[in-house]
Amino acid sequence: MGQLEQKRAVITGAASGIGAATAKAYIAEGASVVLCDIDDARGEALAKSLGDQATYVHVDVAEEGAIEVALEVSNERFGGLDVLFNNAGTPGTIGSILEASVEGFDQTMAVHLRGVFLGIRAGGRIMAAQGHGSIINTGSVAGLQANFAGHDYSAAKAGIIHLTETAANELGELGVRVNAVCPGFIATAIFGRAAGLDADQAQKSIELMAMSAADVAPIRRAGLPMDIAQLVVFLGSDASSFVTGQRIAVDGGLTTGRLYRDSLKNAPEGLALIRDAVSSMAE
Ligand SMILES: NC(=O)c1ccc[n+]([C@@H]2O[C@H](COP(=O)([O-])OP(=O)(O)OC[C@H]3O[C@@H](n4cnc5c(N)ncnc54)[C@H](O)[C@@H]3O)[C@@H](O)[C@H]2O)c1
Repeated sequence: MGQLEQKRAVITGAASGIGAATAKAYIAEGASVVLCDIDDARGEALAKSLGDQATYVHVDVAEEGAIEVALEVSNERFGGLDVLFNNAGTPGTIGSILEASVEGFDQTMAVHLRGVFLGIRAGGRIMAAQGHGSIINTGSVAGLQANFAGHDYSAAKAGIIHLTETAANELGELGVRVNAVCPGFIATAIFGRAAGLDADQAQKSIELMAMSAADVAPIRRAGLPMDIAQLVVFLGSDASSFVTGQRIAVDGGLTTGRLYRDSLKNAPEGLALIRDAVSSMAE
C-alpha cells in the first residue's frame, strides 16, 4: 500500500522539474493528482503518461482565481482535496539591485509570493472547512540565507517561508498543516530559463546543471527533483501529521556553510603562519 492512498493532490509547476517529479511520486504512492502549469503541452503530456489518476489544468499561479479552477477539478474528478503543493516558480531577475526594474521585481513577486498566498488562501478555505489538509510551499535555500540567488527571488522565497509559518499558526487548529520545502541546488530547467532559453531548450540544460551541481555541497552529488519529491510525499502523508510551520531544507548540506575541504581543513597551517609571524616580530 502506498503512502498516499486515497489522497487527492493539486501540484503547481507540475510540467517540469520538482513539480513533475512530485506528480510522478504521488501517483506511485497511490494519490490522484491535478497537475497545473502554464506549459500546457508538457503538462498535458505528463498527465497523460501518468494514467487515469492524473489530469492537467492550465493555471497561472499569479492570477487571482486561477488555482480555484484546479481545486474544483480535484473535487469533481477525484472527490476532494487533501494536499496542495504550491511549487510553480521562475528564476527571478539577475543582476545589480541598482539596475533592477520594477516590472521584473513585480513579476517575480507575483509568481512566487502572490502565487503562494493565493494558493494558501484558496486551498486553506477548502481544507479549513473540511477540517484537514496539507499545504506545502516551495521555498529555497535562497529564502534562508542571502546570496544564493537574485534580490527579488531571494526576498520572495523568504516571504514564502514566513507566510508558511504565519499560515501554519492560524490554520493548525482548523486541521490544516502548512510547511515549506527549501531546495538547495537541484538540477532542473530553471537555470536554463534564467539563461533566457525557452522551455524546450531549458530542458536540454539539465544534465549540464547536474554536472555543475555535483560538488557544491557536503553531499557530493547533484540534487535531483526526486530528492524534493520524497519530502513532499512525507509532508502530504499522514506520517507527518504532527509537522507544521516548518522550513525544511533539502540541500545536501549546502546551508551548513563554506565546505570544510575548502576552508577549515587548512586551519592548522593558517594558525602556524600566525604563530610564525608573531614569533618573528621583534620584542
Ligand atoms: N532547481 C533549484 O535549484 C531550486 C532551488 C530552490 C527552489 N526552487 C524552486 O522550485 C520550484 C520548481 O522549480 P524547478 O527547479 O522545478 O524549475 P522548472 O523550471 O523545471 O519548473 C518550474 C515550473 O513552473 C512553471 N511555471 C512558471 N511560472 C508559472 C506560473 N506563473 N504559473 C504556473 N506555473 C508556472 C514552469 O512552466 C515550469 O513547468 C520553483 O518554485 C523554484 O523557485 C528550485
